Amino acid sequence: MTRRLFGAGVGEAVLRADEYRLLRDLVSERLGIWFGPESRLSLERRLRERLTVRGLTSYSDYYHLLKFSPFAAEEWEEASEVLTTHETYFFREDYQLRAFKNELLPLVAERNRQRKRLHIWSAGCSTGEETYTIAMLVLESGLFDGWEVRIYGSDLSKKCIASARRGAYGPTSFRVTDEAAKRLWFRPVGEREGDPGTAVSHGVAPAVRALCHFAQMNLLDKERTYLVGRCDLIFCRNVMIYFDAPSRKRVIEMFHERLVPGGILLLGHAESLLNVSTAFELLHLRGDLVYRKPTTAGTGSEP
Ligand SMILES: C[S@@+](CC[C@H](N)C(=O)[O-])C[C@H]1O[C@@H](n2cnc3c(N)ncnc32)[C@H](O)[C@@H]1O
Repeated sequence: MTRRLFGAGVGEAVLRADEYRLLRDLVSERLGIWFGPESRLSLERRLRERLTVRGLTSYSDYYHLLKFSPFAAEEWEEASEVLTTHETYFFREDYQLRAFKNELLPLVAERNRQRKRLHIWSAGCSTGEETYTIAMLVLESGLFDGWEVRIYGSDLSKKCIASARRGAYGPTSFRVTDEAAKRLWFRPVGEREGDPGTAVSHGVAPAVRALCHFAQMNLLDKERTYLVGRCDLIFCRNVMIYFDAPSRKRVIEMFHERLVPGGILLLGHAESLLNVSTAFELLHLRGDLVYRKPTTAGTGSEP
């Protein structure tokens, strides 16, 4: 075991190069998240608290816990929380959301007009702001009254999903939300009577909540992703930027399978399918570029 003698505190375990490689590869295989050569200190820092909680004195002991222990599954839940970034807020990347509402929703409304069914997946939704934003835009569009509308939000993190289900948010979630949207889609929680503006948080309006369904899910766990069925649109924004190339490819293939023919995939602004997949065609919208599963692709046997 190696211990740091000064700097980070006497007696603290240090992540050695060999331990780093083992843990990095294990994390990448299990969660898809990639820690590059410059990220050794970051991985060490993120996992340190877990060693303390488990009473371990070296990172190789922690590796063995994640790999072989009967408590591995439960420890992965905790490790996932400290290895992921949950940054999110309502109406994020508004140019894309405008394209979604003004150009994509009318397309799907026309395509599905007989079936009257709209299924959308917000994959890697963190604490739910993205999922609820999508539901608000669907309602605002007014195109789907009387339809079967389901918006799924999924995330690796159990805590994020619990928070999404609570659906109450503080100021950082509203950093780009205008007052009109806030008044329309949220209800103040804990406001002092007769003193507007004193709410500590805002709850999502019942009409929006009614469309949203949340589940904890690792995007690399293909079997579990069957839970969402077939989707018309999938949002996966700011999730795969943290992934290694093979995991990105696996997840993109899974999305391709989960989409109906003609279904659309929306990625974050810094992400693209370049060098990842040729199974999608590019759809040029006025305000954005998105990926479409060709209509000629097979539909598979599942619903
Ligand atoms: C930065 S947040 C993005 C939230 C939202 N999509 C947005 O753009 O605002 C990334 C989320 O991806 C989730 N995530 C990371 N790896 C995942 C995996 N293998 N399966 C499912 N979710 C994952 C994290 O837990 C985190 O909540």
